[in-house]
Amino acid sequence: MAGRGQWNSRFGFIMAAVGSAVGLGNLVRFPREMADQGGAAFLFVYLGLLLIVGLPAMLGEMSLGKMSGTSPVNAYRQLAGDVKSRWAALGMFGVLAALFVLFFYTVIAGWALRFFVESFRDGWFDDPSGLFDTVSTGPWTIFWNFVVTGVTVYIVSRGISGGIEKATVIMMPALFLIIVGIVIYALFQPGMGAGYREIFDPDFGELSVNNVSNAIGQVFFSLSLGQGAILTYASYMEKKQSVAKDGTTIAFADSGVAILAAMMIFPVLAFTGLLMDPVTQAQLDSGSFGTAFRALPNAFVSMGDVIGRIVGAVFFLGLFFAALSSSISLLEVPVSVLVDGKGLARWKAALLMGMVTYSFGVLSSINGNWLDLFDQIAINVFIVVGVALTTIFAGWKAKGVAKELDAGLKSRIGVYVVWMMRTVTPVLILVTFIFGGLWGTNANGDFAFWYLAGEDGGTSANWRNLLDLFGRAFRFE
Ligand code: TRP
Repeated sequence: MAGRGQWNSRFGFIMAAVGSAVGLGNLVRFPREMADQGGAAFLFVYLGLLLIVGLPAMLGEMSLGKMSGTSPVNAYRQLAGDVKSRWAALGMFGVLAALFVLFFYTVIAGWALRFFVESFRDGWFDDPSGLFDTVSTGPWTIFWNFVVTGVTVYIVSRGISGGIEKATVIMMPALFLIIVGIVIYALFQPGMGAGYREIFDPDFGELSVNNVSNAIGQVFFSLSLGQGAILTYASYMEKKQSVAKDGTTIAFADSGVAILAAMMIFPVLAFTGLLMDPVTQAQLDSGSFGTAFRALPNAFVSMGDVIGRIVGAVFFLGLFFAALSSSISLLEVPVSVLVDGKGLARWKAALLMGMVTYSFGVLSSINGNWLDLFDQIAINVFIVVGVALTTIFAGWKAKGVAKELDAGLKSRIGVYVVWMMRTVTPVLILVTFIFGGLWGTNANGDFAFWYLAGEDGGTSANWRNLLDLFGRAFRFE
């Protein structure tokens, strides 16, 4: 497989994979989930699910990549032992999923970059919420999305060690320092304690089936699973590296950053006195975007002209790095499929896929409904179905996964992990889908199952209802 490229170092691979995993999901979604869904109680559930569902799925997907040494579609063919295998469709499914995430993700990365640039002008300093209203859609959004897509294409076109590794080896440590820096700064401000109470105060009474299923959705999204991204990155690993060790490191680094991000966001909101403010509360309730692009810039403004700009600038730079390193790994999925499968030159594949991504990104930049739609298709449905099928394939169909997991370890853990992939992971996904999605009632008090048939109880069945149904199960708004 010479010429395909390979990571230069173990550190480089881990930084790239952590770069894929750590993104908007860690920096904004997770902190909100933790604060809203029972604090430490949610964390407890999240970490439990990470161990029994997320980690096995991660190790399974990584093994598929490392064992086959090729990109998703070819990998499934090869490991199924049949070039005509229907499992190849799972590779294409991953490609589609990655593209759907890209269609909205680069747009958000563009917002982050714009907010970073505005730290040196007066943009959000004068009127944070107003800036977001003008920044989130329109011609400038298209422009910043173009910049982000261009940078992503450029880095991916430079190859594995020469592009992706080089970029992430700088961006990830920088992001870490930024987050830790703000966490420490906040620690010394009077009044920050309320932020810690907001995220850690355990409230087991608040936990419901829905929190559990939302946590599963978040684990998968955060670890970038089910879309062939981790599979692709693992296919560039050196043979002597250990999937079990590196995969565990990546998974825990990902959660670590998510928890640190919560320890950054909420204390900042607390010491600036905004946490209990009804306007801020409404911005937090409105979702991840309101939190990152309305509530937080407000908090930066109240830190004063100099400090506020500095903290704001580094925060948005960090947010941009997190989103860019994830976009890179998303683009690498279709690019690697074209390079390995069709023999296309890497730069051509990157440019082609960049153009596709950009075209749909324009839609998301013009109208937020497109952005929401791509986001729902990707997150509510594709990721979960992708993870379920990938673990079933890794557990039941692919041979040698247990051996791959044992390689380089003193104890034999492979068979147990494979057993988890076979049973616990898919069963838990199904169970949470039934109890978190189908069970219960919808807004009209109808049995939620009839969601499928339409809000009004059956006359307007449509596929948007199906998206909602999955959303109810695996996602927290
Ligand atoms: N993990 C990323 C985050 O937390 C988002 C993401 C989902 C992703 N699927 C992916 C990134 C696939 C790269 C590849 O924000």
